[in-house]
Formats: sequence, structure tokens, C-alpha cells
Amino acid sequence: MLKELVIASHNQGKINEFKQMLEPLGVKIYSASELNLPDVEETGTTFKENAALKAEALSQISGKPCLADDSGLCVDALGGRPGVYSARYAPNRDFDKAMIMLINELKDSGSDDWSAHFSCVLALKEPDRPTRFYEGKVEGRITADRKGSNGFGFDPVFIPQGYERTFAEMSSEEKQNLSHRGKAVAAFLQKEFNA
Ligand code: IMP
Repeated sequence: MLKELVIASHNQGKINEFKQMLEPLGVKIYSASELNLPDVEETGTTFKENAALKAEALSQISGKPCLADDSGLCVDALGGRPGVYSARYAPNRDFDKAMIMLINELKDSGSDDWSAHFSCVLALKEPDRPTRFYEGKVEGRITADRKGSNGFGFDPVFIPQGYERTFAEMSSEEKQNLSHRGKAVAAFLQKEFNA
């Protein structure tokens, strides 16, 4: 059973979420910044590759088990873009601009099928063990009508399948029950902690 875990991220929001979930299970959580670990460049072309790159590099440097996640939005009419480049799609991380750009791209595509999904891959690397992966996906569609102020990134333009509200109109609990990241984390907790 894992007793300590480095979260391969400098994003305090992500680290807090993992702390909330894992500390009650008796796991000591370290952030990459706390251990002065470097940023790892996401040079892969898939979520799995990027998550593995981050977990493996930081586990090797720290000598500790390390968990990394990579996620993004894949839009069918755009051939799956922005995909692994979702974070970099936003100019200066300005997601208001990014959402306008995305809607314009969809309008220009001429397609009226605005289906999309979010994907998330978690990679867990323990020293001397092969990397293990947990994945989650949520299907839905993009709406031109931006709504809601919760969440982050593309949440105000993404409506999950079976709903008429965007992720940004949902509480964090409701979103986590449906979301790509929520599903990947649930699979990780089930397998690693029987939780
Ligand atoms: P990462 O931190 O490299 O995994 O970047 C993920 C990027 O994908 C974010 O910057 C957002 O653009 C997008 N993304 C991933 N998950 C979500 C989500 O739950 N809601 C909205 N946008 C997301």
C-alpha cells in the first residue's frame, strides 16, 4: 500500500484535490514544488505518454512514488483538437479567449455536430515497478452559449451527455461524479486502496 506520494504538478488546485482524497487514507502527499522538483516538459503526443513522462521523471529524481495526470478536450469536428494541447490552446492561459476561438473554429468547420469529450489519464510510478495507468472519459458536446462560473478551462462550453447544463453550472461534487478526472481517480482509488 502506498504510504507517500509525490503529485507531479505545480498546480495548487490539483494538489489540494489529491490531498483531500488521499490524506484520509493515510498517504503523505508532497507537491513537486515542496520537493524543489523541476517542471517536466510535455513532449508526448498522447495523454498517456505525457502522464508517464511526468510521473517517471519525478519518481526517478525524488526516489519516491509519483502520480501525474494529463487531460484535455477533444472535439470531433476539429479532428480531436485541442486534445493534448488543450492547456496551450489558450493564449496566455486566457480561457475566455480560448472558448471564443474554439466556437469560431467550430462555426468555420461548417459541421453542426459539435460532439466532444474530455479525457484524463493518471500515471502512477513507484520506484522499481512498471508504471500503472488509470483513465477516465466523459462524452458531451460544445455549446456556443457559454454558461456558468464554476470549474475551470473549457467548463462553460461543455455539456455532458444526458444533461442540459454545462460543467460550469454544476457543483464540484456533481462534476466530479461525471467527469473524466473523477472517473480516473475513482479507478485509481479502487485499485490502489480498495476505496
Ligand atoms: P493539463 O494540466 O496539462 O492536464 O491541461 C489540461 C487542460 O485541458 C486544461 O488547461 C484545460 O484546458 C483542459 N481541461 C482538462 N480538464 C478540464 C476540465 O475538467 N474542465 C475544463 N477544461 C479542462
